[in-house]
Amino acid sequence: MSEYNEVVELAKRRGFFWPSFSIYGGQSGFYDYGPVGVLLKENIVNAWRRSYLREGAIFIDTPNLSPEAVFRASGHLEKFADLAVQCTKCRTRFKLESLLKENGIEKTPSGIEEANSLINEKKIKCSSCGSPLGEAYDFNLMFKMEHNGNEEPMYLRPETAQGMFINFKQLNNIFRGKLPMAVAQLGKAFRNEISPRQSLIRLRELTQGEVEVFFDPDNMFWKDVPDGREVLFQPNNSGPMTMTVKQANESGLIRNTALAYFVNKTFNLLMEIGIGADRIRFRQHRPDELAHYSSDCWDAEVVLDEDWVEIVGISHRGQYDLTRHQDFSKDSMTVTIDGKSILPAVIEPAHGIDRMVMSVLMKSYHKRENNFKVMSFLPEIAPFHAAILPLQRKDGLPELARSIHEKLSEKDPYVAYDETGSIGKRYARQDEIGTPFCITVDYQTAEDGTVTIRERDSTSQIRVNVSDLEKNPVLSNEKVMEFVRSLKS
Ligand code: GLY
Repeated sequence: MSEYNEVVELAKRRGFFWPSFSIYGGQSGFYDYGPVGVLLKENIVNAWRRSYLREGAIFIDTPNLSPEAVFRASGHLEKFADLAVQCTKCRTRFKLESLLKENGIEKTPSGIEEANSLINEKKIKCSSCGSPLGEAYDFNLMFKMEHNGNEEPMYLRPETAQGMFINFKQLNNIFRGKLPMAVAQLGKAFRNEISPRQSLIRLRELTQGEVEVFFDPDNMFWKDVPDGREVLFQPNNSGPMTMTVKQANESGLIRNTALAYFVNKTFNLLMEIGIGADRIRFRQHRPDELAHYSSDCWDAEVVLDEDWVEIVGISHRGQYDLTRHQDFSKDSMTVTIDGKSILPAVIEPAHGIDRMVMSVLMKSYHKRENNFKVMSFLPEIAPFHAAILPLQRKDGLPELARSIHEKLSEKDPYVAYDETGSIGKRYARQDEIGTPFCITVDYQTAEDGTVTIRERDSTSQIRVNVSDLEKNPVLSNEKVMEFVRSLKS
């Protein structure tokens, strides 16, 4: 079994995520988050939210459904489509780009004509049954919804971004009419993917954390790009190169300083949630794959299931969106600052939250020598910070353990309680859900008020006083942190 498949198996068995609607045969591209998955995702979302609150971003929450007018203006109605092709015999539908990739062709055809010539030229057949393919066609990825019969249809939004563009003037008023201004939105987006696959990697209903940073186009400066560590870049016109983001900006690889700033910020956020630097690269979009609204785009990619996958896209959307909404709605999108009339330009870091979850799971997963599985999450990202385990289910130990659990949960609610099965099995279960500390209540606890704390990765243990733990939660407890430091030294 590949490592990716092992993670997917563990995710289902332990309650991170699993395919939705399985009692009715399932629906590809839809996944449920289970009890520990919800907490892991929430911790990743919180890391994202905190990092943008630190930038002074303001947040908004707009509807999932939007009228057609929004997407006529945004260009999605016309252009948010993948080239598709269908087998003439088994009727399997393929996303053309994926089919070309399977056949060793890294190219996004510019249109139907080029797609058809490539299929003929390279003699590409159905990869399911080997039969000839039909003509290529554009397949719009938006889900269309009927709306009260004769009114204009509505669409499930394919990105959360539009809610921030159409509210720009209102938001800027609240922001006291200043620029630059960063607006962020967490929410669901919906894409009718032609071939959803690989669990959380390609979903039809996904969670996005998008940030739209509005600038005066003559002054696209947020902050200086800080010095940082070296990062792997894959430019669109040369081989890979390694340098700091600041150097990438200074050398002109990432020309726009604001774009470079948010590339660097994205790298730091991915590091903060525990995705190692060796798993991250920034790839520049080729001109033929840029979205219709983008003039330059760098994807933060992580290796998942043996392929580089986009996790965050940092795109220069320029004035495209505000110009379009201004033209289509006839409402002005300009603001006047110091007597200057400005139609802002936008840099957008768009985070695929589900893919961030998958990246953290893949990075954290490993097996001990005895083949036991462990999720080595960073403690702050783990679904639970600690688990309270009575050594035995008798002699008053569960009652004592439950009272300790109750007290510790007052300070930190991310503390689990488990009394089912042998202590070895419970340690293994907590290792699989990535709990960094197991607190075991044993016979000595009743005598002297101490418990053992087992650290997940080393499995080493120390004894501490419960009263000490009650004062400070596990993750900020000096004794526990001293223990962790001693393990590392
Ligand atoms: N807003 C960019 C995206 O949806 O990927």
